[in-house]
Amino acid sequence: MSIVLVEREPPVGIVLLNRPEALNALNDELMGALVEALAELDGDEAIRCIVLGGSERAFAAGADIGQMAEATAMEMYEARRIDRWDAIRKVRTPLVAAVSGFCLGGGCELAMACDLIVASETAQFGQPETGLGIIPGAGGTQRLTRAVGKAKAMDVILSGRFLTSDEAERAGLVARVVAREAWLEEAKRVASAIASKGPIAQRLAKESVNRAFESPLETGLDYERKLLYLAFASEDAHEGLTAFTEKRKPEFEGR
Ligand code: HXC
Repeated sequence: MSIVLVEREPPVGIVLLNRPEALNALNDELMGALVEALAELDGDEAIRCIVLGGSERAFAAGADIGQMAEATAMEMYEARRIDRWDAIRKVRTPLVAAVSGFCLGGGCELAMACDLIVASETAQFGQPETGLGIIPGAGGTQRLTRAVGKAKAMDVILSGRFLTSDEAERAGLVARVVAREAWLEEAKRVASAIASKGPIAQRLAKESVNRAFESPLETGLDYERKLLYLAFASEDAHEGLTAFTEKRKPEFEGR
């Protein structure tokens, strides 16, 4: 059985982490296969949104603790393991995290590297690294803080407590909470809605929203405007605007 399951249901691609015996703990093999699968779908013109999920019991319970227990600091540095989380950020296609069950440590960081999180009512989010004597290292202290603010981020990271999906939604980490049994179906439904819009516009919009966290307002607004002009240059923009005036559904070609 493959460690990452890939399904193509154009325009949606689905990637499921498949290491159930270890609650999808993210070892080198799993992260390598994940990055490869995402890169392939990202380059596939027929795929306009990707769902990334785990199993009902666990999205991912963190980086592989056994693997880290054996590593020296220099090996960690040389192996550039954490660069794999950065690779997720470089995926241009909108990425929906479908989270059910445990979403901890590097798993939570993986979900946060996606564009939005759709969570089952059973989901539990946490950054329990300090209990292992380490700290989050793939964006946890930065992305969680930006998502939920200092008070909750400090609570989660320093006390190690898990957030329920309702609490995570109220705090701004999760976009939608869905029924336990529908965690994957609902995420696919969200992905289909995303995939039905102009694909170039979606990529530019995603890039622009992400820019909001990296620049002062004036710079971000300026960037947004330039990307709007770029969107205008696409055939899709012409199609979308004309289709509205002609009272028909647009047919986007991604050009
Ligand atoms: C390796 C893990 C694992 C992990 C679970 N397993 N989490 N193996 N790395 N992160 C394995 C267990 O060893 C066990 O294997 C099997 O999965 C089932 O887990 P149990 O503990 O038996 O299940 P349960 O009692 O239900 O408890 C679930 C749990 C617990 C609360 C999620 O497993 C847990 O606390 N896991 C660690 C969570 C964590 O600390 N994550 C942060 C990791 S550090 P066996 O063989 O015994 O059946 C991190 C740093 C990121 O992510 C740094 C940047 C990349």
